[in-house]
Amino acid sequence: MRLLPVFLATLAVAAPVAPKKPEPQKPLTPAQKADYAKVVQPIFDAHCVSCHGPKKEKGKLRLDTLEATLKGGKNPTFVMGKADSSMLLSRVFLEHTAGDAMPPKAEKALTEKQKEALYAFVEGQPIPDELAKPAMADTKTALAAAKTAAAEPKAAPKAKK
Ligand code: HEC
Repeated sequence: MRLLPVFLATLAVAAPVAPKKPEPQKPLTPAQKADYAKVVQPIFDAHCVSCHGPKKEKGKLRLDTLEATLKGGKNPTFVMGKADSSMLLSRVFLEHTAGDAMPPKAEKALTEKQKEALYAFVEGQPIPDELAKPAMADTKTALAAAKTAAAEPKAAPKAKK
């Protein structure tokens, strides 16, 4: 049996978990692109782009355009239709006090509606109106709060303890 060692060697190579190739991303449908522009990008603009945009690229990740978001950072962000293996969603859905949670715990957390809208989007479903509307309202509130905070005079620096 001269072939057996060859066969076994092949098995040994094939059996261990092969390094996962990033899955190819299917082009988004026009409806998905519209959802992204209307609901998802504003969430990222309000909560993520300060650290994941043109000024800072934490984790080598930018979330300021659809293209950049799909490209991902050190790791892929998500593949449409695979919400359960999405790195971006898992970090957004972490308990907000967890070390890896996004946005980090010092920042304002996303609301449930914003998170659910993100989930629906990555699942590849059209974001239903009853999620899109409150999510957009929450985003608006967050943006307004950020503007007010930026306009207020800076509090005197606290003395270090
Ligand atoms: C205050 C700054 C800050 C904000 C705001 C922020 N992040 Fe991050 N993010 C980081 C830092 C720092 C890292 C790199 C370290 C790490 O992976 O924890 C990171 C890493 C990540 C990663 C992993 C990147 C990779 O490929 O390894 C994802 C995904 C992510 N952030 C998503 C988000 C999302 C979504 C938001 C908004 C909802 C957000 N972040 C808001 C600071 C921030």
